[in-house]
Amino acid sequence: MLPVLVFLLGLPLALASPTCAPLIPVTFDNATIARLLGPWIYIVGASRYPPYMEELRGLKYGAFSFSPSSHEDELNVIEVTRLNETCLQRNTSKVLAFRHNSTLAHVDDQVFATAKLIQSDEDLLILNHLNDDFPSLSLSARTPNVSKEQLEEFRSHLHCMGFTEEDIFFTSEKDACPLPWEKKDEGDVKPQLK
Ligand SMILES: *[C@@H]1O[C@H](CO)[C@@H](O)[C@H](O)[C@H]1NC(C)=O
Ligand SMILES: *[C@@H]1O[C@H](CO)[C@@H](O)[C@H](O)[C@H]1NC(C)=O
Ligand SMILES: *[C@@H]1O[C@H](CO)[C@@H](O)[C@H](O)[C@H]1NC(C)=O
Ligand SMILES: *[C@@H]1O[C@H](CO)[C@@H](O)[C@H](O)[C@H]1NC(C)=O
Ligand SMILES: *[C@@H]1O[C@H](CO)[C@@H](O)[C@H](O)[C@H]1NC(C)=O
Repeated sequence: MLPVLVFLLGLPLALASPTCAPLIPVTFDNATIARLLGPWIYIVGASRYPPYMEELRGLKYGAFSFSPSSHEDELNVIEVTRLNETCLQRNTSKVLAFRHNSTLAHVDDQVFATAKLIQSDEDLLILNHLNDDFPSLSLSARTPNVSKEQLEEFRSHLHCMGFTEEDIFFTSEKDACPLPWEKKDEGDVKPQLK
């Protein structure tokens, strides 16, 4: 009887543990898409989905920029990545925002990848990528340097999802690639969000 009691008493404490704050998905509203527009730097991520794990291992740098398209719930994406040594730029993919289930989908040729946007500071973009039962979580930000607190909070989410330090892949500003949207007049590209 005693172990059961200990278990029952222990459970609420474990659930309330402050180190495992839940990931709260954003419920889309009319402001959600506007908040996504403009450039982001990919900072860190972890995944158990084999194709993503492969990609994360080679990913030295990542950045992307969302711009409006002719469809209200569809965004154009420019992606810049350094895989191994090579900088690549792609502008062929789209992001669809499904309001009815608050899901984002990245569409590129044949590949349709969905993700939930997680509540965070405005200058961060946290995505919980949905691939069957494989957990994946990524952090992007408006600037290459996120605060120590933001990084620690993200890391604790990853640990709560069962990732260890070896599973976590950081990109590096020293491997930065030229960004097409930084060449132009900033006023053309950056949406005015304020
Ligand atoms: C959201 O946008 C739709 C269509 O653009 C509009 O009909 C609706 O009134 C908006 N809702 C709010 C709360 O602004
Ligand atoms: C990156 O390098 C790894 C091993 O060095 C290789 O397996 C992989 O195919 C390379 N990826 C790209 C995109 O070049
Ligand atoms: C993609 O890039 C090509 C070449 O740089 C350019 O001609 C094309 O207009 C771009 N498309 C989009 C949707 O930005
Ligand atoms: C949300 O809706 C879209 C389009 O109907 C669908 O493709 C996607 O799988 C849905 N996502 C979830 C998590 O239900
Ligand atoms: C990030 O770096 C920029 C300039 O390099 C600086 O202005 C900004 O305060 C830094 N932000 C944080 C959160 O450290």
